Amino acid sequence: MRAAEDERRRFALALHDGAGQALSAALLQVEALGAAVPDGSERVAPLRRMLAGTLDELRRIAHALRPATLDSVGLTAALRELVASVATPGLEASLVTGEGDGGLRGEAALHLFRIAQAALANVMQHARATRVEVALARESDALALVIRDDGVGFESRAPGPGAGLGLAGIRERAAALGGSCHIESAPGEGTRISVNVPWEDA
Ligand SMILES: Nc1ncnc2c1ncn2[C@@H]1O[C@H](COP(=O)(O)OP(=O)(O)OP(=O)(O)O)[C@@H](O)[C@H]1O
Ligand SMILES: [Mg+2]
Repeated sequence: MRAAEDERRRFALALHDGAGQALSAALLQVEALGAAVPDGSERVAPLRRMLAGTLDELRRIAHALRPATLDSVGLTAALRELVASVATPGLEASLVTGEGDGGLRGEAALHLFRIAQAALANVMQHARATRVEVALARESDALALVIRDDGVGFESRAPGPGAGLGLAGIRERAAALGGSCHIESAPGEGTRISVNVPWEDA
């Protein structure tokens, strides 16, 4: 998992600093060209839009690969951004956090962020939910992350071959942190995933 995260970080940087930088430069060149000829800015407008759109897309991909907020402002802020990004008019998404758990960084933060990401991806893909809540609570010696939705739920049996990577990854990450993971779901009853990891106050 660490190797995979390192690779994601390299991809994110390559996209951001390589392709992203080249696209930004192309955008400036196009704008300069537009300003230099009569009717130029109108003529280059479609090209400008295309480049700007691609640059946006690239930023989104780089961000998904390596959530910058996680390193700079910690887990809570990164989760807030993540939760906001899944909200739609049909899906109310909220984040509940307690005191003093905001600044978590490093490997534990990354695992917990990826767990929330996988759980929310499932909510968007499978749940047909109207509400999803992500809760992060810090107890004296443990950190609890809970993601629950009011969607269609599923039969939670042992996963067979060909099962998805999402839930397996959530279990693996919880185990990698020396913690536990409970996945509760039933058809029509929504889904609740709770992860508890040991945590000492730094
Ligand atoms: N929140 C949820 N609501 C309803 N069903 C869910 C939810 N989460 C998971 N499931 C069910 O459990 C299955 C396994 O989920 P998992 O994330 O492991 O795999 P996947 O989403 O199918 O594929 P992948 O995550 O690899 O793209 C899903 O296919 C879906 O049927
Ligand atoms: Mg999934």
